[in-house]
Amino acid sequence: MKPSLIPRFNLDYNFKDFCYSIKSIFSNSGYDLDFLKSMFGKETFLFTNSGRSSLFVILRALNLPKGSKVGVPLYSCTVVFDAIIKAGYVPCFIDIDTDNYTMDPEDLEEKIEDLSAVVVIHTFGRPADMDKIKKIADDKAVVEDCAHSLLSEYKGRKTGTLGNASFFSLAKYISAGTGGMIILNDDEIMERSEKEIDRLNNSSILNEIKHCLKVYARSFSYRKPWFGLFALPVGSFIENKLDLMNKRGFNVERIKKSDLKLILKKIYSFKNKVEKQRKNSFFLIDELGGTSLKLPYESKNVYCNYYLFPIIFRNKEERNFTSDFLRNEGIDTAKLYSRTPSKAKQYYGYTGDCPNTEKLADTVLTVPNYYSLSDKELLKVANCIKRVEKLL
Ligand SMILES: Cc1ncc(COP(=O)(O)O)c(C=O)c1O
Repeated sequence: MKPSLIPRFNLDYNFKDFCYSIKSIFSNSGYDLDFLKSMFGKETFLFTNSGRSSLFVILRALNLPKGSKVGVPLYSCTVVFDAIIKAGYVPCFIDIDTDNYTMDPEDLEEKIEDLSAVVVIHTFGRPADMDKIKKIADDKAVVEDCAHSLLSEYKGRKTGTLGNASFFSLAKYISAGTGGMIILNDDEIMERSEKEIDRLNNSSILNEIKHCLKVYARSFSYRKPWFGLFALPVGSFIENKLDLMNKRGFNVERIKKSDLKLILKKIYSFKNKVEKQRKNSFFLIDELGGTSLKLPYESKNVYCNYYLFPIIFRNKEERNFTSDFLRNEGIDTAKLYSRTPSKAKQYYGYTGDCPNTEKLADTVLTVPNYYSLSDKELLKVANCIKRVEKLL
């Protein structure tokens, strides 16, 4: 137990956000979408209770025959596969480009004939190569998973405006509860998505209040000293006892009023936070530049929101050693998606044809880079990584 442990993620839902959310449950004022509209250059936004529900709605609205194959990067959270299955389709796994952590267009090209649609993920906020992917997909729908990529840009255009449809997770970078936001660039998919959402239930006032309390408690647990004192030890204990990745169902509902009000409030200042997080990330890149580590440089022609800061190690042992070392030094890290390939084999029909993903899942570590770190904490992250790298 380490009260000074720097948490691996930033869940920035503070007491003010909590109070605003509770107040908005009882407010009768409408929703002002003007800022979102000008930000994305789009007129219509749809919302559900989560990113995964939003993907489910979009996939249903594609209206593909039951059992159609949908291409998706294996390097992902398994809830994405759950959404594909829940919509009545079959996930078909595509490998990733290890320089960018996103869908490998060459592997997609080899598998495209069998597919009816493609879900592209802008993993860690890094835009996928949309021009190549859209060209390969041709007339098949391309859905952008922007769960990580709010405000990232590809060739001057925001992610979420590039494919036929896209969705965002409001639970992540912007920390506005748990909702999901959908953008549609195709009128037919939009009409059918609206019908899907019309069928969904609203939350009761009691459920809204419970929800706000839960989100606040969760974000509280991601703060010092509670993260090191309770959240991490309790979380690790539960993870060892229960196979949480085997929990596959989820409820599809409308967005909660409190979440929608909060995203519309938080979006105004979000760009500044992304700029700060980019600054932190470039600082880490500068500090770690002379080491043997593979760093997440920004690709040409993109604006990366640096939602997460992944580092690739030469092998699993070095990655795990670094993670243990940093935790002892008071810095928590995440081995993101490290269990996905084995879970995908066990539960989702993955047959072992994504070698880059399997390697990456064993060698990636994401380290704290978020906007709410103090300068002292950021320097500590950089210095500790430099120290451990010398021991590898
Ligand atoms: C890449 C990716 N897509 C989609 C989701 C689902 O988002 P949500 O948690 O809002 O359902 C997640 C996270 O769980 C994710 O990591």
